[in-house]
Amino acid sequence: MADKILPLARRVLAVAPFHVMELLARARELEAQGRSIIHMEIGEPDFPTPKPICDAGIQIIESGNLFYTPALGLPALRAAISRFYQQRYGVAVPASRIIITTGASGALLLAIGALIDPGDEVLMADPGYPCNRNFVRMMGGVPAEIPVGAESEYQLLPEMVARKWSPKTKAVMVASPSNPTGTLIPAESLRAIAAIAHARGGALIVDEIYHGLVYGGEYTTALQLGEDVFVINSFSKYFNMTGWRLGWIVVPEIYVREFDKLSQNIYLSAPTTAQHAALAAFTPETIAILEQRRAEFKARRDFLVPALRGLGFRIPVVPQGAFYIYADCSAFTGNSFAFARDLLETDGVAITPGADFGNYAAEHHVRFAYTNAISALNEGVRRISEFISRC
Ligand SMILES: Cc1ncc(COP(=O)(O)O)c(C=O)c1O
Repeated sequence: MADKILPLARRVLAVAPFHVMELLARARELEAQGRSIIHMEIGEPDFPTPKPICDAGIQIIESGNLFYTPALGLPALRAAISRFYQQRYGVAVPASRIIITTGASGALLLAIGALIDPGDEVLMADPGYPCNRNFVRMMGGVPAEIPVGAESEYQLLPEMVARKWSPKTKAVMVASPSNPTGTLIPAESLRAIAAIAHARGGALIVDEIYHGLVYGGEYTTALQLGEDVFVINSFSKYFNMTGWRLGWIVVPEIYVREFDKLSQNIYLSAPTTAQHAALAAFTPETIAILEQRRAEFKARRDFLVPALRGLGFRIPVVPQGAFYIYADCSAFTGNSFAFARDLLETDGVAITPGADFGNYAAEHHVRFAYTNAISALNEGVRRISEFISRC
């Protein structure tokens, strides 16, 4: 069978694999051989799903009421998210504009699917979340990546968007806080970018998946900017529900019917168990658990940033959110991929090379995820110190 040519669409060839997944697989392999590995590569909270959410999930499973929900989502969950926007941000978002999806991934797929035709360009930051460019490519679109560095806190500036916008540009994507840099986009920047997109007849898509995981400073939702912004969120990160595969997108009212059609056809409905369980995500009891965990993430960040700087990594911007530190490792290497690979093989610390997030200065950057206890991060720092003393 080895010489049989398998049918394969060209779009699959355009999609790059996640290096971090391969690294994780290698880390697990080494662990299976008895090696101790410190994980600083994993992009999901290490905390279990809060018990009230699990209890609600168990209850719905026991009831057997596990039929499809409407494609737009369980009405009670859409209403709960609408109340959450009002309580947390003071922004009125009608439940009718909130569409429940299979994670932020499902939301991104719907958004790109609904807005992008073959040949259309989508502006996005480099470094950025790798799936964005792959989703655009899968729809036949062209990711138009804009290099961003510490000068703009790794976020798009309005003038960058204005300069790069071409007649083929259909949308601009922003993530705040960002993966891999943990930085926020200032409200005034976002407002100006929204105005540019609006004036040129394009869409602004804002990924707010790391909302809730912000460690100081003012921040608000892009929904404050008005109705014509597409805002993505998820139960994965702040709510510690990665494996439940649940998220949402808020769309302008006139797009709801079109998104409904797409979700009906792509996945029929987001997981029913997860939707019922998530009804318990907004209770004061659950929020108290999540806020405690947020404080723990902040403590980890406050430990790790100075510790890495002390080793010689350059971290010009202290990340305000998510659980990532994007560090310049050029003091030790000009090949961050080999650096991450060797660090794992020789000293048992798993981190992510910059190449996963784009091309711009990727060979000089690595991403540390503080999704591990401070004691483990401390041991990771000790091992990295030994590793770089040999570099
Ligand atoms: C910026 C960003 N957007 C979207 C996602 C997708 O997350 P999920 O599908 O679990 O909601 C991730 C996951 O790491 C992410 O970092």
